[in-house]
Amino acid sequence: MLCQDKFLEIYKKSPEHLAFCPYRICPLGAHSDHNLGKITGFAIDKGIHIAYRPKQNGIVELCSLQFDKRAQWHIHEVPRTKEGDWADYLRGATLKLTEKYRISKGISGVIEGSLPIGGLSSSAAVVLVFLKALCDVNEISPTPTELIMMSVKAENEYVGVSSGKLDQSCEMYARKDHMLYLDTKDDTYELIPANPSMKPYKIAIFFSGVERTLAGSKFNMRVDELRSAAYALAAYAGMEYGKFQETNMRDIPREVYDKYKDRLPDNWHKRAEHWMSEYDRVQKGAEAWRRGDIEEYGRLSFESGWSSIYNWETGSPELKALYDIMTHTEGIYGGRFSGAGFKGCCMALIDPAYQESIVRNVSEEYLKAFPELKGKYMVHVCDSADGLI
Ligand code: GLA
Repeated sequence: MLCQDKFLEIYKKSPEHLAFCPYRICPLGAHSDHNLGKITGFAIDKGIHIAYRPKQNGIVELCSLQFDKRAQWHIHEVPRTKEGDWADYLRGATLKLTEKYRISKGISGVIEGSLPIGGLSSSAAVVLVFLKALCDVNEISPTPTELIMMSVKAENEYVGVSSGKLDQSCEMYARKDHMLYLDTKDDTYELIPANPSMKPYKIAIFFSGVERTLAGSKFNMRVDELRSAAYALAAYAGMEYGKFQETNMRDIPREVYDKYKDRLPDNWHKRAEHWMSEYDRVQKGAEAWRRGDIEEYGRLSFESGWSSIYNWETGSPELKALYDIMTHTEGIYGGRFSGAGFKGCCMALIDPAYQESIVRNVSEEYLKAFPELKGKYMVHVCDSADGLI
């Protein structure tokens, strides 16, 4: 069922507006953003739709085709603590919007997400599309950067996930057939077009069949471990440092890392090694993409996947198996866990000429290892797309 049909069924009238925000993939640049690194990413042609109408009384009333529970709050009376359901992200976003802008109207809306949840950043997409709807009915136009920051703060401060701005930036700025190359330290970015000499590609998403939430994963602990490494390195080197939460791996020069890394506890060393090596890979990958070398970009994405498993130490058995299968499947340029690496899915850049055999071979091998996931595991092949703006 489409969100506009559900809207009609519930409210007995058609929605006034429809909006869409795409999901994202990040072949290179995983776990860089929360410590102010660089990322590369794309938006894909699947995402979140919302059908909505303004509500003059300031109430937000939402339902989602993917979740049972309907959610309702007043724009000026958002509960201060989260309720533990899918709409927490949107309550947090309402708070962040009303902290900056005077608004009076709410919305009634139906949300529809395509594809299973986990790994494509549906949370950022739902927040961005909701903020867009709420801003539209209130006739305000925050800048893209403001919308990104409201969404990030809703996740960090309301939901409690120490994420960065990778997801929102891809979903906002991306352009079809371009690669977003963003420096999260100063928000400068480039949209690098696919070089005409580049081999054709499509984006395959392999859903493990296991869904997840970041709030319940080790996501925050990994970020803290990395930040602890940065703090310790700054201290070893006699650098000036400030508050722990405001210290980032990006502050640590490469020479300092190389000189003192062996003093770090093993776990912190590995997190820092992931971050530093990913920083290098992102830069190499951006240049490979620029010159049309999708094979090199893909190879680097496979390396990034390896580092996520062995240095960042994430990945469920299902995701690791998918990653392994992808590395030896003909026609896949490269790929890795999509997103944080706690359940969810893997993404791959593939040569369209091999699409059928890739889907067949990966599925057969995966379901042989996890027969109980038959019916839950699925593959989707898609294209890059424009972001929200
Ligand atoms: C999640 C977070 C992002 C980023 C990725 C890992 O998607 O929301 O900010 O840290 O994981 O790269």
